[in-house]
Amino acid sequence: MPDHYAVIGNPIAHSKSPLIHAAFARATGQDLDYGRILGDPDDFPGEVRRFLASGGRGLNVTVPFKEAAWALADERSQRAEIAGAVNTLIRLDDDRLRGDNTDGVGLVRDLADNHGFRFPGAQVLLLGAGGAARGVLVPLLESGLARLIIANRTPGKAQQLADLGAPFGPAQARGFDQLEGERFDLIINATSAGLSDAVPAIPEDCLASGGWTYDMLYADTPTAFRRWGQRHGAARSLDGLGMLIEQAAESFWLWRGVRPDTAAVIAMLRHPE
Ligand code: ATR
Repeated sequence: MPDHYAVIGNPIAHSKSPLIHAAFARATGQDLDYGRILGDPDDFPGEVRRFLASGGRGLNVTVPFKEAAWALADERSQRAEIAGAVNTLIRLDDDRLRGDNTDGVGLVRDLADNHGFRFPGAQVLLLGAGGAARGVLVPLLESGLARLIIANRTPGKAQQLADLGAPFGPAQARGFDQLEGERFDLIINATSAGLSDAVPAIPEDCLASGGWTYDMLYADTPTAFRRWGQRHGAARSLDGLGMLIEQAAESFWLWRGVRPDTAAVIAMLRHPE
């Protein structure tokens, strides 16, 4: 019998995780199956209990259950602890559940390893202070960057995130209207503005010459923020497909102790035919 894994969320039909993990399993020769679970928003613990009772070994957790997974975990990694959210549940040998969050490491690896962005010394702007921004905070601050400015429409929330991140690296908070005169080597969009095809109201000239933009959102057509980067002369304007695959690879590693090669899977999803 193959070991059993799944992704749980609501909605879940469009999740690419089953495709990604099936490709990892094929490429590494791991004997596992990976399904999708449309979770009942009112009964996340019951859903997990049933999955474990059926022999499940680990879960990926997506919207809207990441905070519930955090609360359910018997133990958590430090990055998940600070993220306040868990996207990976690991069933330990004694049947307790360990919670981790692989989103931030997925973002940093996509930028640094897949695209060659040099974090050491970089001035980085993180847009947004909701769950998506908080989820990547610790790995970003530990990347070696020179300074992380967190900017949010509601500046108080950016300040809370900067306070949370301060023990891990150089974090500061701003409102969108407090960025005049700043120039960034990398601007990361972690807001949900793109869901309504909007971009955060940041100054037109805050991308440094040769600077990069990264939209954590991934869509089949270029997102509003990716287009913003292209319009503003970004040397690279990336979307979140690589992050999606890198966070999955880190989950796979946590479960199986094997690191899948991600390049082939990125290419497969980028050019599906
Ligand atoms: P997520 O889990 O995607 O981060 P969230 O926790 O609801 O979702 O956070 C959404 C983030 O997108 C917030 O930072 C929000 O800004 P506010 O804190 O001021 O609400 C940001 N956001 C949403 N729509 C936006 C828009 N049109 N322009 C700028 N920021 C926006």
